[in-house]
Amino acid sequence: MAGPLPLCYLNGEFVSLEAARISPLDRGFLFADSVYEVLPVFDGRSYRFKEHFDRLDRSLNEIRIAPPHSHAEWAQLLSTLISRNNARNAYIYVQVTRGMEFGRNHAFPANVNPTVFMMASPLPELTPEIRERGLKAITVEDFRWGRCDIKTTALLANILMKQAAADVGAQEAIIVRGDEVLEGSSSSVFVVIDGIVVTPPNSRKVLPGTTRDAALDLAKGKIVTQIRTVHTHELKRAQEIWIAAATRDVVPITELDGTPIGDGRPGPLWQQMCEFFAADRHRLANTPVISA
Ligand code: PDD
Repeated sequence: MAGPLPLCYLNGEFVSLEAARISPLDRGFLFADSVYEVLPVFDGRSYRFKEHFDRLDRSLNEIRIAPPHSHAEWAQLLSTLISRNNARNAYIYVQVTRGMEFGRNHAFPANVNPTVFMMASPLPELTPEIRERGLKAITVEDFRWGRCDIKTTALLANILMKQAAADVGAQEAIIVRGDEVLEGSSSSVFVVIDGIVVTPPNSRKVLPGTTRDAALDLAKGKIVTQIRTVHTHELKRAQEIWIAAATRDVVPITELDGTPIGDGRPGPLWQQMCEFFAADRHRLANTPVISA
């Protein structure tokens, strides 16, 4: 996969990503005392800006960091990052840590300034092979903490799950708690059961996905959707399973724990959903670089 674009934003300055430095005493480094966002840019225009920065504000609020910027300020920073990198199809990574103090104290230090970092990377392409064959996934029992609704950089459990998938040649780990299906290690999940597109409800057990919400919006009046608890036993009899994330819309899972899903090929409802996303992009082409 291509590396990130050369210019990043760090604490008030646009600097070369290679030269950018933070202190080892930053609480993001010491404690993962930090939250983040990932939002896509298509043809130089950010997609669902408001949803992503609303979620960032929510994550910050939940971990008691005052938002370092208003949405208008974020928009300004984002459009500079996009234009100075000449980013066309990219994803923007935004991270805010509580900042650094001279020491290592678990409780929040007084008068600390948050560290703000943004970089842009090329958007991974949905290759013809993935379109034709889909991806493989495994199921894993959840061993994360109790506030998975906060988009924190404390992702050790998620990366161990993703690696467990990679170890067996799969690309995603679908997280379950007992009989309940939650989400992927870095994605939301949709399951097609009896022709209905079902996704688990938001709760403290899942991240409220922006792509999930977009898919539910785009499906309105066209595909029947349902938000309800998905049971683990339903996965095996699902006609289709998709994962959803801001970096790649919806992607079909065609094999789960070594067993084909449906006929083992990407399904018709996934195809339809892809077309909805493509049409939504088309609409984006005539909008400003950042629109709420
Ligand atoms: N991850 N659930 C988890 C645990 C995630 O990490 C993500 C996204 C999602 C989907 O959210 P959204 O549709 O808003 O991207 C759900 C991002 C892409 C990441 O960590 O890189």
